[in-house]
Amino acid sequence: MKIFAAAAIALAIGLFLPVAGRAAEPVAGRAAEPVANSICPVLGVRLDDATKVGCEWEGRTYYFCCRMCVEEFKKEPALYLKKLKREEVEDLFGAQHAAVGRMLLIYREMVRRIKNDQPIPPEALEKTLRISREFMQNFHEKLEEKYVFPRFVAAGAQRELVEILLKQHREGGKVLDELIAVAREKVPDRARTAALLSSLIQIYRPHKEREDAVLFPALAGLLTPLQYGELRRDLGAEETKVFGKNGLRDTVNEVAATEKLLGIYELP
Ligand SMILES: [Fe+2]
Ligand SMILES: [Fe+2]
Repeated sequence: MKIFAAAAIALAIGLFLPVAGRAAEPVAGRAAEPVANSICPVLGVRLDDATKVGCEWEGRTYYFCCRMCVEEFKKEPALYLKKLKREEVEDLFGAQHAAVGRMLLIYREMVRRIKNDQPIPPEALEKTLRISREFMQNFHEKLEEKYVFPRFVAAGAQRELVEILLKQHREGGKVLDELIAVAREKVPDRARTAALLSSLIQIYRPHKEREDAVLFPALAGLLTPLQYGELRRDLGAEETKVFGKNGLRDTVNEVAATEKLLGIYELP
């Protein structure tokens, strides 16, 4: 009842001002500072720039997937803002980890093919090795090592986990070096290839799970809203610097092309 009354008062004095589209109208006398959240604070879905709905709250403009979510937000803003911060931080590496997850399925399919004496299209192996080195190791892992792990070290948090994750990055690099060397041989050793791909799965599956389940949720607790904004901007700039204006899209298309070559793109 109290919450409802507070929301009604806030509505009456214009603290909540739903605004359709990109730009929000400022509350009289002061400009709303845009937050530009990419996820709906209520439903947690990724926002579409063309349809998102803005709502001003305490001098900042937040965006929602629909007006119903704006109404829901008004009931418990503090709860939804806390949820938004956690989900936005967890999402910083979401698209990259989704691609990493698909690469693990590609490794698994290659191992299955080798064990069943089935061929692996050379182009699929070439793409897999290239994406693993250029995207997973030289880009994704380097970003974690530059922007994420040092924050935990500085805060004295998750020390043991960060050490394990770093060790796994190094180990994954060595296994991939060997895999590339085997693939370059005149007649690549299929059994060795399967063993090395299995090692990569063994390293990266728990690695990704622990980053998703422990590290990134914990990162939300280390970042102020300002630091989060800076980190998001820095990661975007790194992506453009390495992959150009298309960002990760080309890499994701390459992953999809590899899945098609291996027959695992479409659901059976
Ligand atoms: Fe990592
Ligand atoms: Fe990662």
